[in-house]
Amino acid sequence: MPRTEAVVFDLYGTLYDVHSVARECDACHPGRGMEFSMLWRQKQLEYTWLRSLMGQYIPFEQATRDALVYTCRALKVDPDPATLASLCDAYLKLAPYPDVPDVLRRLNALGLPLAILSNGSVFSIASVVDASGLRSHFSHLLSVEAVRVYKPDFRVYRLACEQLGVPADRILFVSSNAWDAAGAYHFGFDACWVNRDGRTFDELGAAPRVIGGLDELPVLSAKNKP
Ligand code: LAC
Repeated sequence: MPRTEAVVFDLYGTLYDVHSVARECDACHPGRGMEFSMLWRQKQLEYTWLRSLMGQYIPFEQATRDALVYTCRALKVDPDPATLASLCDAYLKLAPYPDVPDVLRRLNALGLPLAILSNGSVFSIASVVDASGLRSHFSHLLSVEAVRVYKPDFRVYRLACEQLGVPADRILFVSSNAWDAAGAYHFGFDACWVNRDGRTFDELGAAPRVIGGLDELPVLSAKNKP
């Protein structure tokens, strides 16, 4: 395997916990915040994929808001403007997973460029990263906005190679979203699926590395240091 020259992370669900909004969701749907949050995330993903297939790019914030309206309607919660605004705002301040700050520090110490490549808009990515105080760890924050199509379209992954000036097989791409790890694998990245909670990998013809947490990233183990 070629040496790793850069590490590129997915954002939502990988570095930041999309279900950290479950508490706010619980306030509008008492006792069912996690169910609400899970349906919201599932629909958000579906809407990005469907919009890409339709050739109808919309910004990530709109896909997120549309998915929220659907979720409210499906769960019989009034999608009033104040509720929509406060939940969409909470999505701009998602919490990082607890292991993230330390792992980013350790990766910085290796001198590797670190990037985020996300379906989020430039604004959404910057908002989430700034709210968590982690911006200084990254050399690049890359949004699909530049190509107006969503992951797992190969043009998004290609953007990382172009912007970082690093060939695909020297990029360690890290995602907790199985479909994203599969897309990255097919593109030619050294793809790594972070399976924090013992999920089953999707049957998508891909075989990325599998780790149980970010502290198991291959570049952090002594024998794989760049
Ligand atoms: C991201 C979502 C899809 O691209 O996880 O950050």
